[in-house]
Amino acid sequence: MKVFVTGGAGFIGSHTVDILQQKGYQPIIIDKNKSKYADSSIKAYQIDICDQNLKEIFKVELPDAVIHLAAQTSVSYSVSNPKIDGKINILGTINVLENCCKYGVKKIVFASSAAVYGEPKQAAIEEGDTKSPLSFYGLSKLSAEDYIKLFSEQYDLSYTILRYANVYGMRQDTAGEGGVIAVFINKLLHDETLTIYGDGNQSRDFIFVKDVAAANIAALSSVEKSILNISSNTKTTINELTAHLHKLTHKTIKTSYKAKKEGDITDSRLNNRRAIYTLNWQPHFSLEQGLNETIHYHYVKKHSNL
Ligand SMILES: NC(=O)c1ccc[n+]([C@@H]2O[C@H](COP(=O)([O-])OP(=O)(O)OC[C@H]3O[C@@H](n4cnc5c(N)ncnc54)[C@H](O)[C@@H]3O)[C@@H](O)[C@H]2O)c1
Repeated sequence: MKVFVTGGAGFIGSHTVDILQQKGYQPIIIDKNKSKYADSSIKAYQIDICDQNLKEIFKVELPDAVIHLAAQTSVSYSVSNPKIDGKINILGTINVLENCCKYGVKKIVFASSAAVYGEPKQAAIEEGDTKSPLSFYGLSKLSAEDYIKLFSEQYDLSYTILRYANVYGMRQDTAGEGGVIAVFINKLLHDETLTIYGDGNQSRDFIFVKDVAAANIAALSSVEKSILNISSNTKTTINELTAHLHKLTHKTIKTSYKAKKEGDITDSRLNNRRAIYTLNWQPHFSLEQGLNETIHYHYVKKHSNL
């Protein structure tokens, strides 16, 4: 089965490509950047998803399915650049969808986000809960979801929309707004101070990247059109996270507490029951296991100057 992975050169995309290859699928990377991770046997096209020439690639390759991960992924960038965010996340998705429909793609798996919900109204967010995005990023993901649903009604295209919680693991960006775990581990290994915004009692639902990649692949064979939370269904506060990191690295943790960031939600936990049932999937990595693999990755990277 031939599967396009848009954003296949990125953090989640590269792990998705790895597992697709291991499982005997034929992944093809569609990304504006060159992949640093895929081996040379993997076909890759360097192209922007907004580019009208994308159709030529669909025409030549005729993929069976698309895992659509390419996106503008920064919340803060979306706030100051809503047009660019909307262009990539909405118009780019429409370009992918049009080509899916034109060239007979049967299934699209879409990387959406917990950001579509905004401030949670209950302890564990369910898929049917109110959607009130607090950022243009959350809004562009929600709009892309709506386009996918409408395209699917009008054409023979099935979908699974996956709303990821806070994904962490190897290959995540440590610069700028990178995930808090990647940023903290990188700083810790360089003996730098960890900045915590607020009192550190805010919680997040951390899910390991290999579990997310496995969900992307499980969704390929799901026949139902569905929208599913992909999460660990567990709350971890930032203070608990630093305690875990201390335990696993034996490093002294230096922290600096700063004012809570505007618009930061206090608690986030996504109920993943529906995904477990629909995809026959479940998270396999505990936070400790995932952190261990991630720390090991950063340690090796630091010592080999990669
Ligand atoms: N990391 C998380 O915690 C998280 C949480 C929720 C949702 N998501 C979603 O998962 C997907 C993957 O995120 P990630 O964390 O791997 O990010 P990433 O930045 O590592 O990967 C995104 C990839 O998309 C590519 N890309 C960006 N704009 C493009 C364009 N216009 N045309 C072609 N390629 C383009 C980038 O080059 C990059 O390789 C995104 O859609 C993101 O919104 C991520």
